[in-house]
Amino acid sequence: MQAPKYILALDLGTTGNRAFVFNADGNIVGSAYKELTQHYPQPGWLEHNPSQIWNDTCWVMQTAIVNSQITPAQIAAIGLTVQRETCLLWNKTTGEPLHNAIVWQDRRTAPFCYELQAQGYTQEIYDRTGLVIDAYFSATKLKWLLDNIPNLDINNTLAGTIDTWILWKLTNGIHATDHSNASRTMLMNLTTGAWDEALLKLFQIPVYILPQIQPSLSHFGVTHTNILGVEIPITAILGDQQASLFGHGCSKPGLVKCTYGTGSFLVAHTGSQIIRTSQQLISTIAWTQSNSLGYALEGSMFTSGACIQWLRDSLKLIKNAAQTETMATSVTDTMGVYFVPAFSGLGAPHWDMSARGAFFGITGGTKPEHMVRAVLEAIAYQVKEVVEAINASCTIPVQKLAVDGGACNNNFLMQFQADILGIPVERPVVRDTTVQGVAFAAGLVIGLWDSYEILVQNRQIDRVFEPGKESLNNFAIWQKAVERTKHWTN
Ligand code: G3P
Repeated sequence: MQAPKYILALDLGTTGNRAFVFNADGNIVGSAYKELTQHYPQPGWLEHNPSQIWNDTCWVMQTAIVNSQITPAQIAAIGLTVQRETCLLWNKTTGEPLHNAIVWQDRRTAPFCYELQAQGYTQEIYDRTGLVIDAYFSATKLKWLLDNIPNLDINNTLAGTIDTWILWKLTNGIHATDHSNASRTMLMNLTTGAWDEALLKLFQIPVYILPQIQPSLSHFGVTHTNILGVEIPITAILGDQQASLFGHGCSKPGLVKCTYGTGSFLVAHTGSQIIRTSQQLISTIAWTQSNSLGYALEGSMFTSGACIQWLRDSLKLIKNAAQTETMATSVTDTMGVYFVPAFSGLGAPHWDMSARGAFFGITGGTKPEHMVRAVLEAIAYQVKEVVEAINASCTIPVQKLAVDGGACNNNFLMQFQADILGIPVERPVVRDTTVQGVAFAAGLVIGLWDSYEILVQNRQIDRVFEPGKESLNNFAIWQKAVERTKHWTN
């Protein structure tokens, strides 16, 4: 029998779960996708059903394998990348979730975050974790679950982010995570890469319910034979933004990528150095291998692709995402309309949990086309703010933006982005860079590929959007609009 030579990459995201099969040339030979149900129990709250995530993961794995016309025995390794921060608790004996997972966008713990700020923890938490105090990160969500699940038997409870949950299910009981996901919990010490005792005490989270932290590129265990009939090693786990950073080849200082997914996430590798900045960016783990910790600076913008979905599903201004491009280019400007995409508050560089979204400048002449264009422009303006913050924090300015994610298919958005940034925006042929990154990582660990550099060099560029000479830059007015959305719910 021939040695297995395919990689199965799982990308378990906020809006859906996907599986891709890669061949030994690094090309995608099959895939499957299933949309994930979003539960909104109260305004500002968002939950996912962990059992649905697991069942859909099984379905996409099996379907992608069938679509690729291979058998599970031909898969050499699995790479797992996930939406970050979203977390849950489950029963160690039965494997049953104790509550829905609380999603990263969920704002229910904002009041507790304000208390922590008022008690003066901002600097200490930043020093220990690289993060700002915000309901975005897992620690306050885990505390909420521990405090609110009735009759919880702590000695029979396990906690984890989505990677940990799915690894536990795939392996029938291995309880582990990687540094990139752990760095988003607000419980990991960024310098040591271990759970931080002072923070565990602050959030009253017992260490024994938390997973073991491992390097992102390492052996996490094998799939139980009940799942796919064979044992397949899981050799890479990464947060989805870090997986995309890896896939773009952004492995050293000066290289920056932006993924336009549910939110936009701009991440710059900072080498083996933690960069501390006053620019309201977070410091996080890029990825780890053996004993080496790689760091990154990140600007997390909570809402971008989600606004396009909202235009389609709630406002019904468009039938599909592609229509935003034709509508935006059918008008010469937004006719003075500005949009602030603060659906879940504002992330970098504002970090305002109480901000909410708004349109400004609407007149009797405003048409759907102007509103759609204002939404796209806002997505690009947010990224400009974060690029400016990165430039103010690093010695090497951003010279090019590597992009991926659904909204990067929009040519108007990409050209506008290049124009307002004044640097080229580079779009690859394969836009699923997240999944590509974790597939590369898993394949490198098992020796299917020897050279990360060659894998990255072989990626093809679809188009480079060069900045135009003149840009319609109403950035300052948009920033004024952003200020007006702040402190809305408090
Ligand atoms: O930090 C949240 C991020 O990981 C979510 O990514 O692609 O699911 O929107 P995505």
